[in-house]
Amino acid sequence: MTKQIYIVNGSPRKNWNTSKMCESFAKGVIDAGGYAEIINLYDIDFKGCRSCFACKLKNGKNFGKCSYLDGLTPILDKISQADGVVFASPIYFGDLTGAMRSLVERLFFPFFEYKEGYPSIAPKKLKTAVIYTMNINEELANQMYQDLFNRFEWFIEIAFSKPQRICVYDTYQFLNYDRYVCEIFDKNHKLKQREEQFPKDLEKAYNSGVKMAQEVINE
Ligand SMILES: Cc1cc2nc3c(=O)[nH]c(=O)nc-3n(C[C@H](O)[C@H](O)[C@H](O)COP(=O)(O)O)c2cc1C
Repeated sequence: MTKQIYIVNGSPRKNWNTSKMCESFAKGVIDAGGYAEIINLYDIDFKGCRSCFACKLKNGKNFGKCSYLDGLTPILDKISQADGVVFASPIYFGDLTGAMRSLVERLFFPFFEYKEGYPSIAPKKLKTAVIYTMNINEELANQMYQDLFNRFEWFIEIAFSKPQRICVYDTYQFLNYDRYVCEIFDKNHKLKQREEQFPKDLEKAYNSGVKMAQEVINE
């Protein structure tokens, strides 16, 4: 059976930085012989964890999984049974986007048992990757976002496997910088980033897609 890799896009913008990274990763997976599907979180009608604790109920029929039924329910099932998963998110206010955070609550909270060391009961050890896109540059991101990255990736590692990390810094934010109030970012520098750096980032995503597909195919 073809190996299935789901790429969760936590950006509301189609055809922008995060979406393009997802598409490039998907192309790598497909070229290497796997199946890739991009899940656009902002197309799905769902909310975060309701704190119902059905996932922790002794002998409960939904023990270890989210029992709340909405648009995310089939996605959670798909991800849990996949061969690989990618979490891609822009950085909003120093964090993952709201939609990605809501997915994280619903996907991961049921997996961690309330026992010493929070052991995971995730059904499958999937291959994983994370993609972050952000406005700030690499130097600032290293100072500001390492805790965020490490914390998020810790959950992923305990439940599934240690993720490959791909960061896209200093992203191009608007189609035309002249139309927006934006005095602190230099449009020529941003344009240079988009034309010279972003293609390299896309290539990195493509290569990571190839690598993940090869790993799951050769397992
Ligand atoms: C609401 C909002 C908050 C943001 N906060 C941050 C931030 O804290 N740090 C940062 O580096 N970029 C921030 N950005 C910029 C985005 O992370 C960046 O432009 C990203 O590449 C957008 O991804 P997209 O092109 O896929 O939409 C923010 C953008 C928005 C819309």
